[in-house]
Amino acid sequence: MSASGADGRGRPGGRGRQGGEAGHGYHLPVMADEIVEQLVIDKQGAYLDATLGGGGHSSRILAALGDGGSVLGLDRDSEAVDRNRKNFAAEPRMRVERSEFGRVAEFCAPESLAGALFDLGVSSRQLDAKERGFSFASGTALDMRMGGEGVSAADLLAKWTERELAMVLFRNADINEGRKLAHNIKADMEAGAPMDSDLIRRAVEKLPGMRDENRNGMLARAFQAIRMEVNDEIGEVGNGLRAAVAALRTGGRLCVLSYHSVEDRKVKETIAEFERDCICAPNLPVCVCGSNNRKLRKVLRKPGLPTAEEMARNPRARSAKLRVAEKV
Ligand SMILES: C[S@@+](CC[C@H](N)C(=O)[O-])C[C@H]1O[C@@H](n2cnc3c(N)ncnc32)[C@H](O)[C@@H]1O
Repeated sequence: MSASGADGRGRPGGRGRQGGEAGHGYHLPVMADEIVEQLVIDKQGAYLDATLGGGGHSSRILAALGDGGSVLGLDRDSEAVDRNRKNFAAEPRMRVERSEFGRVAEFCAPESLAGALFDLGVSSRQLDAKERGFSFASGTALDMRMGGEGVSAADLLAKWTERELAMVLFRNADINEGRKLAHNIKADMEAGAPMDSDLIRRAVEKLPGMRDENRNGMLARAFQAIRMEVNDEIGEVGNGLRAAVAALRTGGRLCVLSYHSVEDRKVKETIAEFERDCICAPNLPVCVCGSNNRKLRKVLRKPGLPTAEEMARNPRARSAKLRVAEKV
């Protein structure tokens, strides 16, 4: 988002209906122009923003809709929900609910949506606010719960064995040095180190043979791997996308923004699942399903990427990949 307003064009809420400044200073929406162009196929349609965050994408979608259009915004984070309820209070076309997006079916009837957007991962606000426990800043208590419920990162680290932690680092962030890293973390914990961000930083610093410029990237991936487990992010992506496909009407669009390879792999695999006509088990000698099960077709053959200008303006856009598919 630009500094000029919630929709990046000096029009908070797009049509002056939304009080407040959705997203401003909280999170810059990534690839917002491209998303509106791909997602909004019907100006009077119903849309899902499965990951409201600062509400920047929702603002842009609303700005493109007519009076008969609407957006349902979900977020599992009650801070984001409260903020959006306040900011969109004067916008009758917007409904805000606190929920995991894996529960989309509870809010959207089958074949009801013209489009669904998933902007995966965490918001800038979540990453930056030290009290949320996602930040690398020294002395940040390891929490990382997006919804504030369930088991914190500190509790999971205490519960996992060294081997389990190594698996988490490998599975969620492709960290090949996972065993060494897990060993360093667990050894420090056993020596009585506090359960804060410095535990992970010290473990990364102790990895042998790593160039200094690569250590920050490794630290970010280690945090990401633990955060993904705390929030069951990969399980949620599968459940959320499946539910959204059921809720899309024919011709409805699914737009998904992912920010790292493990997340993108899950998105790609889930879309591919719905592109298949035949869904028989691979070991069946003949097709018994009728070979008429295809539910999605790719709109973009390759994932869309942010422009160089956007990456310069918003460094958090740098790793974004946009996948777009249409219900058939
Ligand atoms: C990258 S931010 C979205 C930013 C948003 N598009 C904007 O324009 O400000 C991701 C948001 O999704 C939420 N989130 C992540 N996983 C979720 C899930 N499984 N269910 C609901 N919300 C989720 C996070 O709490 C966070 O607020």
